[in-house]
Amino acid sequence: MSVIFTSKSVNATECTSGYLVVGIYDNKDFTTSAQQLNDKTKGAIASLIENGDLAEKPGSCALIPIVQGIKSKRIIIFRLGPRKEFSTKQFNLAISGVANFLVNLTADSVTLFISDMHLQDRDISWMARRVVETSSQRLYRFDQLKKKPKKRPKTWRIQIATDESKSLAQIRQGVRIGKAISEGVSLAKDLGNLPGNICTPTYLADKAREIGTGGDIDVEILDEDQMEELGMGSLLSVSRGSREPAKLIIMKYQGADENDRPVIFVGKGLTFDAGGISIKPAGAMDEMKFDMCGGAGVLGAMLSISQLKLPINVIGVVASSENLPDGAANKPGDIVKSMSGITIEILNTDAEGRLILCDALTYIRRFDPAVVIDAATLTGACVVALGKHPSGLFCSDSELTDALVCAGNSSEDRVWPMPLWDDYQSQLDSNFADVANIGGRDAGAITAACFLARFTEEMKWAHLDIAGTAWNTGKAKGATGRPVSLFVQFVLDRC
Ligand code: BES
Ligand code: MN
Ligand code: ZN
Repeated sequence: MSVIFTSKSVNATECTSGYLVVGIYDNKDFTTSAQQLNDKTKGAIASLIENGDLAEKPGSCALIPIVQGIKSKRIIIFRLGPRKEFSTKQFNLAISGVANFLVNLTADSVTLFISDMHLQDRDISWMARRVVETSSQRLYRFDQLKKKPKKRPKTWRIQIATDESKSLAQIRQGVRIGKAISEGVSLAKDLGNLPGNICTPTYLADKAREIGTGGDIDVEILDEDQMEELGMGSLLSVSRGSREPAKLIIMKYQGADENDRPVIFVGKGLTFDAGGISIKPAGAMDEMKFDMCGGAGVLGAMLSISQLKLPINVIGVVASSENLPDGAANKPGDIVKSMSGITIEILNTDAEGRLILCDALTYIRRFDPAVVIDAATLTGACVVALGKHPSGLFCSDSELTDALVCAGNSSEDRVWPMPLWDDYQSQLDSNFADVANIGGRDAGAITAACFLARFTEEMKWAHLDIAGTAWNTGKAKGATGRPVSLFVQFVLDRC
């Protein structure tokens, strides 16, 4: 399925579309577009409100199925809440309400007016972008593995419109960014939702190559022999327990001078995490197919960034493997030597994410990064600490922390800072090696980050624990596509 987004400056009464979607504030306070339609349709909108057919809550929608006097046949009105209190939150609620309403409609062409909506802290371009991102997320489906995919329009046409012609350029820009991010998000969702028997490290590598060809990104895939040569003993110790060969995916996008130091995104691409010999309990183990969502986020962000042709150098790196129990798998107590030379005592084979990431983080030093951000579904402890709303942010650089918090807020893909103090480092002491791969019961998300910190000294680095944010559980089980929009926003803010 695809969604085609366009933008237009038009008077609502002159617009031809399957549905015209216009907003109204509480107390019969119409947006200009709603007012124009109401005037031309002999008060069709006002009568609907008077009849009490539209609940007073931002996001409530109602359909007026047959109208006369204008160029379109149907109007959808949606609530924005009180005009005086109009806020980002209200806008988001309103837009989600519209997106939810659209899913069940029969026609596939929609024109949504965002005229006469003003937010204090966001511009119209941001609003257009939210409409695009929200509706494409809501229209997203993953049913390609079902025998009979659900019937629905092949292509959706969503037009974001305004009656204020001066804001059209800004809306265009917002739609363009929103489209690029949505494609990255959908790709990340698809990869996350694909099961472990399809989405293997080799599959991810092939996907990366495909994105590279389409988007002018230079893609290099290191196989196990090459990693062996580089001394990636930690990463390879994880993949030894699996029949799927590990891959290290490197994607280079050059949008600026070749001497500009790159932003580097590193993702955990663990395509299935059974825990290894320290095997996980059976309940919900299927969800460990999502353990590659950090890697999927990197691929998605690279896709978006290349589509936007941003003037910056970005490198995406994904360390990809499975973690399974096997005769050759890591055993608790095993000691491996990482590419950095640091030796690691593997006290729990289920703490494998850090084992593959540490070698990727050592590898990227050769690119002399301006900043490195890794994303990993690293610890259940992070979900306990922060729940499902923000990703955990671990960073000892205050400027980078601020930039990520800010990018999280404007992309609505939020992060929350956690301490990364040296005080925790001693929990990783080992009697037999330089470091242990677990730090005991306390502060599990922090000690995991502390482990990675040992491999990123002298780099400007942040770690995102996305274990709580990368997928939903329960009835809405499925990948969320995070942190694609955060990554892209971070890069946009630097450009
Ligand atoms: N991929 C898991 C983390 C995870 C667990 C994410 C549950 C989301 C939900 C990671 O590889 C892992 O198993 N971590 C262990 C670390 C522990 C052994 C120190 C964990 O969190 O239990
Ligand atoms: Mn694990
Ligand atoms: Zn894992």
